[in-house]
Amino acid sequence: MSLLEENQATDLEQMVGLTRRRFIGAGALCGAAMFLGGNLLSRSALAVNAASASPLLGFTSIAAATSDAITLPPGYSASVLISWGQPLHKNAPAFDPSGNGTAKAQEQQFGDNNDGMSLFAFPGDDNRALMAINNEYTNYRYLYAHGGAPQSAEDVHKAQASEGVSVIEVRRKGDTWQFVQDSRYNRRIHGNSPIRLSGPAAGHEWLKTSADTSGKKVLGTFQNCANGKTPWGTYLTCEENFTDCFGSSNPQQVFDAGQKRYGVVAASKEINWHLHDPRFDMAKNPNELNRHGWVVEIDPFDPQSTPAKRTALGRFKHENAALAETRDGRAVVYMGDDERGEFIYKFVSRDKINHKNPKANKDLLDHGTLYVAIFDAGDGNADHPKGKGQWVELTHGKNGIDANTGFASQAEVLIHARLAASVVKATRMDRPEWIVVSPTDGQVYCTLTNNAKRGEDGQPVGGPNPREKNVYGQILRWKANADDHGAADFSWDLFVVAGNPGVHAGTPKGGSSNINPQNMFNSPDGLGFDKAGRLWILTDGDYSNAGDFAGMGNNQMLCADPSTGEIRRFMVGPVACEVTGISFSPDQKTLFVGIQHPGETGGSTWPEHLPNGKPRSSVMAIWRDDGGIVGA
Ligand code: FEO
Ligand code: CA
Ligand code: CA
Repeated sequence: MSLLEENQATDLEQMVGLTRRRFIGAGALCGAAMFLGGNLLSRSALAVNAASASPLLGFTSIAAATSDAITLPPGYSASVLISWGQPLHKNAPAFDPSGNGTAKAQEQQFGDNNDGMSLFAFPGDDNRALMAINNEYTNYRYLYAHGGAPQSAEDVHKAQASEGVSVIEVRRKGDTWQFVQDSRYNRRIHGNSPIRLSGPAAGHEWLKTSADTSGKKVLGTFQNCANGKTPWGTYLTCEENFTDCFGSSNPQQVFDAGQKRYGVVAASKEINWHLHDPRFDMAKNPNELNRHGWVVEIDPFDPQSTPAKRTALGRFKHENAALAETRDGRAVVYMGDDERGEFIYKFVSRDKINHKNPKANKDLLDHGTLYVAIFDAGDGNADHPKGKGQWVELTHGKNGIDANTGFASQAEVLIHARLAASVVKATRMDRPEWIVVSPTDGQVYCTLTNNAKRGEDGQPVGGPNPREKNVYGQILRWKANADDHGAADFSWDLFVVAGNPGVHAGTPKGGSSNINPQNMFNSPDGLGFDKAGRLWILTDGDYSNAGDFAGMGNNQMLCADPSTGEIRRFMVGPVACEVTGISFSPDQKTLFVGIQHPGETGGSTWPEHLPNGKPRSSVMAIWRDDGGIVGA
């Protein structure tokens, strides 16, 4: 029994007097009783005790829903904080729902498809804050009046203007929070904003283009998925599916191993920027591709500052960046590469964090060591597998990463981090999405959202990726050796294996024992911890409500007690949305959550519900009517 398992078993025994059954909540047992028949009454009784014993979860779990609305537990309310197209300044053009608004207008408005976000309270004022919010991509069907792919340079410019990051000021107003239009901090960083490349790969030949012979000045950040917040008060925005924005005017163009590994294809992926902007044409500007796929650091309190792409953290399809600290005070950044069969990484800074002088950390992320994770096969337990793992250094000249394997320098290792990680045979994961670190015990959680190709293509079934053709996903957890995020070793387990107990009996497809018909979900993606250690789970899954996904309804947000494993459904989003992006007010009485691409396939007019209106991605503020802490 690992230390981790011992701790969990002890917690559970203390709470409900159980011995070996793991992860039992009220819903879990009632659900199991309903599904399996009548011989589980005693377990149901125990389950009620388990629920009432949870010190963390104080709300009533809600049912799945398919309505074009936000659904919340009794006693909770929500309001829209900001929506796509909202002008950040009073003199900026208003949102034009017709789709005829210009690129210049979009550059002055809140971006589309909000994703990861962080809140930065003003020093000494917990009712005033800045929020940095990613705008991941855009929906052509709503962005343009013609509703199709871009037809002109202006169209492409508008799409680029809709992505990146929005920095906004927010203030408490009564029960909720409001966006402050015209704040001097309000700012858009978009697909054509000046950004500098910094760290070991900056200035490398592969980063130079005809427009930037220095290899250190790049235009734009786009496909900004999720985020990180540093202890020194800066925001990290993570470039994910950047490759999709590139194509080639030469349909026969042959791509090299590095270009192929990052997935670039001549025909683009329906984004088609290369047809109207030569910067994205691989036949004309192949090195432009290498200037994207990084983690970008932004100082939200300095609207004039130039963001920096931190090349020391490696180039891949970054999901988010979770900060931690080693025992000796250095910064750790945990990162997932969201593609089937790609890896989980860890960066450890060379220097210690200066907690007394935040500005002294301005280049901390330019020097350090990148690692990639290797997981063992684990114990093979179907309900709750666990095992060991280690971090392997991705440094030129070590671990077989050198000229013989195709790397001339550390810059090349970082630009082609995926290729370097393959040299050391890192574990191919089920699409790593968000990673978060528990504020109470330092354990690290990572969503492995799904992987329909697990079992094919050199991706063995087992360890933390236990299911072939995995359509539901799981949440992986690891504990650093000696509770030191700088350690080379860790132990892991699966916190939950998602599934559908209404369609499949038992594990693995019915999910682990903390999944039941009342809390089931698929494709966990966003994650967030509040200060008390509640784990919030946001989904980006199949919302067909049919087949393997029958009974799951729209995408949703759940809340888990990490010590008991109990999971309750807290919120259901509107039609055809993804729920992504989470942060909290300093007093934990307001939860901010993002609703991305409502109605991506039609069928939604959320949140305004105007006749023939368009749906608009929005950030929501959620609070308890009695003024209490959300989730408690
Ligand atoms: Fe942008 Fe992997 O989600
Ligand atoms: Ca995601
Ligand atoms: Ca996803």
